[in-house]
Amino acid sequence: MSAKTIVVGNFKGGVGKTKVSVMTSWEYSTVYNKKVLLIDMDPQGNASTMIARSAGIQTIDKTIFDGFKSGDLSSVVMKVTENLDLIPAAVSFKNFSKFLYSEFKEDIDQISYMKKLLEPLKKDYDYIFIDVPPTISDYSDNAMMAADYVLIILQAQELSLEGAETYVSYLQFITDEYNADIQVLGVLPVLLRAGGRVDQITVERAIELFGEDNVFKNVIKHLERLKAWDITGIKNVDHHDKKAHQIFIDVVDEIEEKLAHFEEVGRHE
Ligand SMILES: Nc1ncnc2c1ncn2[C@@H]1O[C@H](COP(=O)(O)OP(=O)(O)O)[C@@H](O)[C@H]1O
Ligand SMILES: [Mg+2]
Repeated sequence: MSAKTIVVGNFKGGVGKTKVSVMTSWEYSTVYNKKVLLIDMDPQGNASTMIARSAGIQTIDKTIFDGFKSGDLSSVVMKVTENLDLIPAAVSFKNFSKFLYSEFKEDIDQISYMKKLLEPLKKDYDYIFIDVPPTISDYSDNAMMAADYVLIILQAQELSLEGAETYVSYLQFITDEYNADIQVLGVLPVLLRAGGRVDQITVERAIELFGEDNVFKNVIKHLERLKAWDITGIKNVDHHDKKAHQIFIDVVDEIEEKLAHFEEVGRHE
């Protein structure tokens, strides 16, 4: 086994990054029976809270920052369910940059640290998902360098592609400047607001920008139930729950198709 590592990205907050990282990890590990590691690279720790709540975990006693400081990320892996592990984040992680600068002189060493520490963990998983904060920062740089693929979130109701476009140009920069070896897995439209529908013009622009094959056919609808899970944890009881799960099961199916394609033709085609 060598995990495919996927970062979920967009340089805007509140566009659904964390929800998508958490839910795809959840469906892969439950419905698809895959070994998954979810890494929380956001000091706000929203993904960690949501996963803990969903699995009935009362206290999170590990943090990714300790793993970075000790140089061993396996020491901060938390078992969540049979197939799902979590590396949690906490507010103390806000000092990540200070730590990197004191530890490493060169840019490239600072942003490649996570890649280095993740390597020995890859044999234990089918998939590794990384949830990042919405900033150009040492968190997102480290995630980009460590990942094989990026899943870009598109705000499908906004006329502007801003968050996704900035992300792509930054991806290009990191690739040119530091030889990042990352492939765009696809652009996933997410509906932010209730009662909305997909803005066709935005999706067409995204298709022009990224190519038709790179824009997901599935769209993450706005569902109150998905929001409610922030409070209750992920449930699977009534038909609203089932409907919410199905959205991400369909997305996982499409991720699988895309991965199979890249495995066949090689990344960067
Ligand atoms: N598809 C959705 N339907 C309803 N609410 C959603 C959906 N996706 C995300 N949310 C809610 O929107 C807010 C922001 O989502 P989040 O995933 O935290 O965004 P980000 O990580 O990009 O900041 C959260 O309260 C979350 O529960
Ligand atoms: Mg988030």
